[in-house]
Amino acid sequence: MASSHLCALRLRVVLTVVLASLPWTKAFAYEPQVNFALHCMGCHTPDGSGVEGRVPSMRDTLVPLSAIPDGRRYLVQVPGSSQSTLSDAELAELLNWMIHNLSNVRPPPSLISFTTSEVGAYRKETLSQVRATRERLLQTAGSKR
Ligand code: HEC
Repeated sequence: MASSHLCALRLRVVLTVVLASLPWTKAFAYEPQVNFALHCMGCHTPDGSGVEGRVPSMRDTLVPLSAIPDGRRYLVQVPGSSQSTLSDAELAELLNWMIHNLSNVRPPPSLISFTTSEVGAYRKETLSQVRATRERLLQTAGSKR
């Protein structure tokens, strides 16, 4: 027992050293659509339409919300985004991908892409009253449409 445990430990040490020394491991990052599949799709479904009564559809909300500053803040601070294990850069890339791939509304040419620093800044603050904030923002965004 003890020797097989030691053997497994040794194997893990060797693997860690080998993997850490490979040049590509540090630069490796998933494509945004893979991150969506791994981290978000379970709740949001593959096309972002969500689950009736549990997870609202983001197909009509992503573009209008990303056009107003408080909406952009909300898209980053909503728990699914901000509390994911993704880095700020990965989350920025993922939100941009979602806006262009899961939306019924065509993103206007004026739409500003999320950057790592914008995501990082918003992510430092916590969003309370998620549902109420969503309702308020959709009214504001809707009235500007
Ligand atoms: C456990 C289920 C769950 C997971 C996993 C999840 N979300 Fe969500 N998401 C929700 C719910 C529910 C809402 C509605 C707001 C709320 O109540 O949090 C939401 C709302 C959102 C919104 C705002 C859209 C809108 O119309 O309000 C965005 C953007 C979002 N999620 C992004 C993500 C991203 C990005 C991931 C993956 C990194 C993710 N979510 C993972 C459940 C989830």
